[in-house]
Amino acid sequence: MASTVRYYAKPSDAETFCKAALVKSGLSEADAGMMASCLVEADVRGVDTHGLARLEQYIGRVTAGLVNATPKLEISAKTPVVAHLDGDNGFGFVVATKAMEEAIKRADTYGIGFVTVDHSNHFGMAATYVLQALRKGMISLCFTNSAKQMPPFGGKDTLLGISPFAAGAPSNNEVPYILDMAPSVVAKGKIRRAARRGESIPLGWALDKDGNPTTDANVALDGSMAPIGGPKGSGIAILMDIMAGVLTGAAFGGEVGDQYKEKRPQNVGHSFIVIKPDVFMSSEEFRARMDTLAQRVHGIAPAPGFKEVLFPGEPEHRLSETRKAEGIPYADAEKEMFENMAKTLGIPGLSLTPTPLNS
Ligand SMILES: NC(=O)c1ccc[n+]([C@@H]2O[C@H](COP(=O)([O-])OP(=O)(O)OC[C@H]3O[C@@H](n4cnc5c(N)ncnc54)[C@H](O)[C@@H]3O)[C@@H](O)[C@H]2O)c1
Repeated sequence: MASTVRYYAKPSDAETFCKAALVKSGLSEADAGMMASCLVEADVRGVDTHGLARLEQYIGRVTAGLVNATPKLEISAKTPVVAHLDGDNGFGFVVATKAMEEAIKRADTYGIGFVTVDHSNHFGMAATYVLQALRKGMISLCFTNSAKQMPPFGGKDTLLGISPFAAGAPSNNEVPYILDMAPSVVAKGKIRRAARRGESIPLGWALDKDGNPTTDANVALDGSMAPIGGPKGSGIAILMDIMAGVLTGAAFGGEVGDQYKEKRPQNVGHSFIVIKPDVFMSSEEFRARMDTLAQRVHGIAPAPGFKEVLFPGEPEHRLSETRKAEGIPYADAEKEMFENMAKTLGIPGLSLTPTPLNS
């Protein structure tokens, strides 16, 4: 039977719990804090497929020595605007945050910054790094690759990752543009969550191992994901593998390690392109023009079945406002997982209440 989401945690409590668990697992205070903030930000934005629900699995990998808890992150400059970072098999969250920081620094000086990364791991919600650039007023494009989960268009066997592309641009009074999308109809995390909660999935999300459509989340986990728009989603997944894998020196073409199935480093790659808008016009003018674009999108009359027209990133922004006030809702299975982790790691448990915090 499907479990009901009904336990609420204060985001700051979730972050404290997550950081404590990661420090116990060997990460430095700084790296644990960075990773905890990425995971909780995903939960706050409603991307709870990529939040604390994955913590136990990440800790399992670092405890087994499959992820390096204390990576030495070295940057090698290629040109003034381009650099490469070797992730030293650290957690993707830590590696990608550092790489984005470097790309922002170069963009701030030269107008554009481009940093490629190899020897990394799964970096979670791609919007995390777009938000990092937005906080500095920058436009950004983020690429990652991931383990094979999807056939190339027309194929039966998996080869491509469901690697999310993310992009962001700052505005003034409107919610900033944040596109964060997997090239599959949905992210695999949504199937994993449905399986964890005992729920079925809509037809069209995934295929069984023989290539037939399925509504059974567990069957889908053994099968493959369906690409958005057939050859178009498949083509975007290949672009992600070029920008994050072929170009960076990381694994590519089906060779990224599967963090759920394989006991080896993943060698995920990422790349980050950051653009400073005030190279072309003042930052104020750019932001005002972005506001105009968002307002024109909002001004379009809704089609039948829609109440309003939203800008990309707006649904998550709205949910984050609600969750900051009400707390992050977790399901029974997640509550149980946090309790087990607290016991195993010997850390204080996460405080959860059965009603929204402001009710
Ligand atoms: N690291 C990895 O390997 C990996 C792999 C897959 C997915 N993910 C993550 O999973 C998350 C979910 O991915 P997804 O593809 O299922 O995202 P999604 O389908 O929920 O959203 C995709 C985009 O559409 C926008 N959107 C949604 N509804 C909208 C509306 N009504 N109006 C305007 N815009 C709207 C969202 O703001 C978002 O930018 C992402 O954060 C992604 O980074 C990570």
